Amino acid sequence: SAFFKPILNSDPPIPSNRCTKISVVGVGNVGMAIAQTILTQDLADEIALVDANPDKLRGEMLDLQHAAAFLPRTRFTASVDYDITAGSDLCIVTAGARQNPGESRLNLLQRNVAIFRHIIPPLAMLSPNSILLIVSNPVDVLTYVAWKLSGFPVNRVLGSGTNLDSSRFRFLIADHLDVNAQDVQAFIVGEHGDSSVALWSSISVGGIPLLSFLEKQQIAYEKQNLEDIHQTVVGSAYEVIKLKGYTSWAIGYSVANLARTILRDQRKIHPVTVLARGFYGVEGGDVFLSLPALLGRNGVVAVTNVHMTDEEAEKLQKSAKTILEMQSQLGL
Ligand code: NAI
Ligand code: LAC
Repeated sequence: SAFFKPILNSDPPIPSNRCTKISVVGVGNVGMAIAQTILTQDLADEIALVDANPDKLRGEMLDLQHAAAFLPRTRFTASVDYDITAGSDLCIVTAGARQNPGESRLNLLQRNVAIFRHIIPPLAMLSPNSILLIVSNPVDVLTYVAWKLSGFPVNRVLGSGTNLDSSRFRFLIADHLDVNAQDVQAFIVGEHGDSSVALWSSISVGGIPLLSFLEKQQIAYEKQNLEDIHQTVVGSAYEVIKLKGYTSWAIGYSVANLARTILRDQRKIHPVTVLARGFYGVEGGDVFLSLPALLGRNGVVAVTNVHMTDEEAEKLQKSAKTILEMQSQLGL
């Protein structure tokens, strides 16, 4: 621009590196919490927002752009047209119906499958090398739907799954022990929802296995107390939805955390929705549910061989059955 004078005898501009582009489909509570967390964490050079509601789209885009003076430089586009998503590295899907107070996630299935038929094919066509990260509920079944509709290899389709439930779990344990939740390693696996499974046997705090520590110190704990903590996790979303109408901040951080691991090739382990067939005795079909998975720039690199008791593995297989029953009704 005329605003600047080029310095004398400079080389022609070096072609800049390819930018990192993230598309977010659905700019409701969840999509915007994700977009804004990604923005503040400087994870993308370009963010494309897509929704069915053009006014909401433009309003949200302008509102974020107006924060430009306080944030890393990020290019925004927003449109009802999927063309703006072309060449994305990561496509995050949050569009669709959400639960009313007391409603289960699985109840949203039919409505959101219909919406996914409009969303996934254009995303996959315009960004054929991208990674698809599904957030809309029921996230496990919809990750399967996205895999089927996209035709992508299975490593490039995942769901946010129990990354969020595990954070709720870690928070509750950390709160109980009065330590930092980042020092609590603990996984919830299975369905993101009512049939999820808490892996008590593999919890460690600062590297110390929790249950064997309690046993060695002869500190009594009731199995019922552990069960109660898991039930609090299962009830968390219901409670927040009853109180404020929806959940947003925690899922925003959960998904930004996944975006960082994937785009920066961090090879970190996250409990996320993946094709679970063949792991931990999960059989009977191409069921998607959360397992601790190693993630990197290629998406899902591997599933971790975490310790599970027979009881935990049985619960996981039961959770798989619940999801598989829903999947089998879809005829995909
Ligand atoms: P919301 O109602 O605030 O936003 C949904 C957005 O989707 C709206 O802006 C709407 O215009 C858009 N939309 C609807 N049909 C569309 C279409 N065909 N194409 C493009 N956009 C379309 O809902 P909220 O609270 O943002 O929740 C979104 C989804 O995320 C729900 O399914 C909810 O259950 C799920 N969710 C998942 C979580 C997880 O851990 N996996 C956590 C929290 C919510
Ligand atoms: C959650 C959503 C509702 O916050 O799935 O768990």
